[in-house]
Amino acid sequence: MELLHITSLRQGADGSHKDAPNYANYGEAKANPYPKLPEALVFQNGKPVKTPADWAKRRQEIAELFDREVYGRMPKVTPAVKWEVTSTTREKNGDFDVITRKLLGHVDNSAWPEIKVDIELNITLPVDAKKVPVVLELGFTRPFPLRPGVTPPAPQGPTWQQQVLAKGWGYAVIGPNSIQPDNGAGLTQGIIGLVNKGQPRKVDDWGALRAWGWGASRALDFFATDPGVDATKVAIEGHSRYGKAALVAMADDPRFAIGFISSSGAGGAKLHRRNWGEKVENVASTGEYHWMAGNYIKYAGPLTPDDLPVDAHELIALCAPRPVFISSGSLEAGDGWVDAKGMFLAAAAAGPVYKLLGKKDLGTTEYPPVETTLIDGDVAFRQHKGGHTPGPNWPTFLQFASRYF
Ligand code: GCU
Repeated sequence: MELLHITSLRQGADGSHKDAPNYANYGEAKANPYPKLPEALVFQNGKPVKTPADWAKRRQEIAELFDREVYGRMPKVTPAVKWEVTSTTREKNGDFDVITRKLLGHVDNSAWPEIKVDIELNITLPVDAKKVPVVLELGFTRPFPLRPGVTPPAPQGPTWQQQVLAKGWGYAVIGPNSIQPDNGAGLTQGIIGLVNKGQPRKVDDWGALRAWGWGASRALDFFATDPGVDATKVAIEGHSRYGKAALVAMADDPRFAIGFISSSGAGGAKLHRRNWGEKVENVASTGEYHWMAGNYIKYAGPLTPDDLPVDAHELIALCAPRPVFISSGSLEAGDGWVDAKGMFLAAAAAGPVYKLLGKKDLGTTEYPPVETTLIDGDVAFRQHKGGHTPGPNWPTFLQFASRYF
């Protein structure tokens, strides 16, 4: 805050206490304080963007603003990663015979040996796989720790991994926290700390979301060397904070063929200008600012979300012409915080860029009822009736992805 010359920030929304004066807004009347979005198809000098060649230039303007003000700049040079397979197991997942490899991606730390980064990656392919598509999840590489005495709910129907295997594809999971810790104190550690030689960030240095995406790209480097994987058909998927990171990864790395962006909310696919559930002020606060560039904090005071030179529709547009599936749960089942409508509006507003590139938009700008499947275009959207989970939308995503893979 000192670097930004800021002494105080506006308070975020309270998501838990209904009686709190700053309880999160869940009503349309107050949801759109800043209805005018930055125009994706107008150059900074005011000239219109008319052709795909124009867009290639405009894209750079937009990417620069996201780098500087929102997610922070990825360093021009990042250390090399050497992948080591630490175990190979032939096993069964449901009815499928698979081979699972566990890997560690050793990041070259010769420039600053005090910080060690070993990226955790698991990949499972059908046995005898030759050049199969792979879905890469930013998620948990080890079983999620449950409290003692708590048993996990029995899975209903095939897991997402089994649904992927049923297509003949493989799946992989990369552990974001092994790339970059998920807290502010960790900014002098992980890949961000390593590149900065243990020093704090500058205001436009990258945050955790972009660092997690960087790690996913390094997994993709490994896939490109693996004869089992078709590296031109790799999907990136993530949920919640990892949904945000998956969208950033998609925007950053054109080698990701398709994205499944689940309940990404604020800092992800949801418009920063919306006031519904989580707000810019929450993302800029102590628990989450490390996801973003330091500069992003300015927009929680004295600047406002309306001062942001870009918004989430332009992040989705940075993925064009590649297909992106924006997913949400429902308000009723507890996923109101992520603002499904704010994500829908961003997906819809990315449409003109997809169309300029000869692709199809969402097909509507009317926010549809829960469980409406909008997957005919190259930007897709579906709000399932469940809660804060990608679960119920896996079949829809895989149907969408099958059109491309
Ligand atoms: C919090 C946070 C969200 C985030 C979520 C998660 O709810 O406010 O921005 O997406 O945690 O990652 O589970």
